[in-house]
Amino acid sequence: MMDQRPTTSETIPTISALAAQSPTMREMLEPQGNASSKINDKRIRRLYLQATSQQWFAPTRIHFDEGSVNLEQMDPEKKRILIKFNRIFYTLEKMGLTTIQFMMPKAVNKLKSQEAELYLSCQGFDEARHVFTIEAYLRKLGAPPVYDRKLHKFSQIASGGPYRVENWLFSTLFSENFASTFLRLYKAAEPDPIGVEMCRQLLVDESRHLHFLHNVLPDILDRLSIFGRTYVKASQYFIMKLTESISRTLTEEGAYVGIDRRTLLEEAFENVERAYEKFGVTRDFLWFPNIKTQH
Ligand SMILES: [Fe+2]
Ligand SMILES: [Fe+2]
Repeated sequence: MMDQRPTTSETIPTISALAAQSPTMREMLEPQGNASSKINDKRIRRLYLQATSQQWFAPTRIHFDEGSVNLEQMDPEKKRILIKFNRIFYTLEKMGLTTIQFMMPKAVNKLKSQEAELYLSCQGFDEARHVFTIEAYLRKLGAPPVYDRKLHKFSQIASGGPYRVENWLFSTLFSENFASTFLRLYKAAEPDPIGVEMCRQLLVDESRHLHFLHNVLPDILDRLSIFGRTYVKASQYFIMKLTESISRTLTEEGAYVGIDRRTLLEEAFENVERAYEKFGVTRDFLWFPNIKTQH
């Protein structure tokens, strides 16, 4: 049977191939001249173009039909845990989607960059696709998605306070790293073919989201006052502490499906630490919570 899947990667050239094509194309890659922008508009425009060229259509990109058999035959306890984890993941992605819609105009205004507006619109669209995809996966697992209100405090800590734009962007660095690490471990645990494909697709988007943050955060950190830095640092600590304590209750269930909680937290924290180091702050700029083993 012929595969009906669209082959967008074959029809859309890479950004560098586009640049090499002609002066017209090179011109198109250039951002609008904007002296008041607080970020590197050239890089963000490229990222916007990359984001638009990497869009994918979930119903055909993921083999939802073909993976059904494995889900029907799955051990019920394993299925129960996968549903629980995916409901948490669904809540976090949905929260991320709502927060980006709300924070985007504030961030664009603060960064004074049209390129950030183009790019963040795409990122919002990516998050909408993630919510849709996890919802579809949960339905295949036999459970409708449920928004877990208990987790809502994450978004309050992450986008509130006097430095809300900065706070949101730095919090996103943690949440994107946490999501990426979770997806990598979930994929490596090979729960079922649909889950593996979903993780693979989502990881491409999440790594682009991290790329954006790695581009804008050093400039934001440079401009932040001592008080602003302390505020961001405290807020990051509370988010990581909350993650550490909530995840503690999921240790055994994680082990049952092959996801080690300690590895998840250690990898996520390490990636955040490495990012801050690249931004030019010392290793002890951030406070990290201890990873406890007891409930
Ligand atoms: Fe996402
Ligand atoms: Fe994301």
